[in-house]
Amino acid sequence: MSANDKPLIAIAGATSKQGRSVASTLLRSGRFRVRALTRKKDSPEALNLEKLGAEIVTVPLQLGFQKDVVAAFEGADGAFLMTPPIIPPETTEAPIGRQLADAAVEAGVGHIVFSTLENVDAISGGTKFAPHFTDKARVADHIRGLPISHSFVILAFFYTNLLEYYLPRMEGDTLLLPIYLPEDFRAPFVDPLTATGPAVLEIFSNPERYNGRTLPIVGDVISPREMVETFREVTGLKAEYRNAFTRGGLLQYFPEFAANELFVQELLGMVEYAVQYGYFGKEHDLEWSRRLNPDTLDWKQYLRTTGWRGDKRSFGLQEKREAVLSGIT
Ligand SMILES: NC(=O)c1ccc[n+]([C@@H]2O[C@H](COP(=O)([O-])OP(=O)(O)OC[C@H]3O[C@@H](n4cnc5c(N)ncnc54)[C@H](OP(=O)(O)O)[C@@H]3O)[C@@H](O)[C@H]2O)c1
Repeated sequence: MSANDKPLIAIAGATSKQGRSVASTLLRSGRFRVRALTRKKDSPEALNLEKLGAEIVTVPLQLGFQKDVVAAFEGADGAFLMTPPIIPPETTEAPIGRQLADAAVEAGVGHIVFSTLENVDAISGGTKFAPHFTDKARVADHIRGLPISHSFVILAFFYTNLLEYYLPRMEGDTLLLPIYLPEDFRAPFVDPLTATGPAVLEIFSNPERYNGRTLPIVGDVISPREMVETFREVTGLKAEYRNAFTRGGLLQYFPEFAANELFVQELLGMVEYAVQYGYFGKEHDLEWSRRLNPDTLDWKQYLRTTGWRGDKRSFGLQEKREAVLSGIT
């Protein structure tokens, strides 16, 4: 097969944690070409993808760029679609997702994979506020009505949340880990950087098998108590859990969040939803991605692989989040 005979997959959000994983896995498989959509052609992440063989196209994931997205999707056999982190009061996530899906239809893309989450609004009867979940589910509903072959992935909570957002702090000789979930609540977690790609490679390799299906991507199901115990065991450091799941706990450890009340409500709504209803609907096969890829990292393997010892790690978009939280944007 010559390089040009390989199916071409366009990736929206290609420099994101999920997107990078998809792009690099598809390229390394040697079975696909990749077109990477980004706002910044010269960011380290985009340059890395280019080095791996991706074609880089400059398009923002923003409303009003339908034509540019259609042009970026022209000739693609498949597209991986995701919405960027949108922090309230911004409400553009669902329209951005619909714009991406509509563009894929208009460009004649063969199969799309959209990264979705559960419809918290519908499941909780409107009692829990988590628009970054519900908006993705609304995009998925929109996609189900489009004349295009499609699949969905649902990623568990990211381990990276603890490394880039809910940062530990030292008190005396002990590292305190403020975690956004109750200490004994077992929740699904995953490393988006290593787990997304293999799952999406499988889907684009067998689009008929996965047409219409929703596939969860999970690395571990683990409670904060177990996460902290494992952290102590792997790092040898003294560490303790701290509550960052109630309003008081969250704002004690992250007082800067108070600048954005809607964001606080969203974080609390998401956790209350997960605790009360479960992060994933009961219909999902939570073992699917781990059966497919036995190398999927559980929390212990994640700590060993990354060597994380409580330090702050940045995966790309920290500045934007900090700007939003401090009311700059
Ligand atoms: N954190 C979790 O536990 C979790 C779990 C499940 C799902 N999710 C969802 O995952 C999504 C984020 O994925 P991720 O963490 O892989 O992404 P990420 O690493 O935060 O990166 C987001 C990417 O979006 C691109 N982008 C394009 N237009 C943007 C815009 N207007 N604003 C911000 N970014 C823009 C950026 O690429 P360029 O700069 O190159 O354009 C950036 O690389 C969110 O929708 C979130 O709700 C998160």
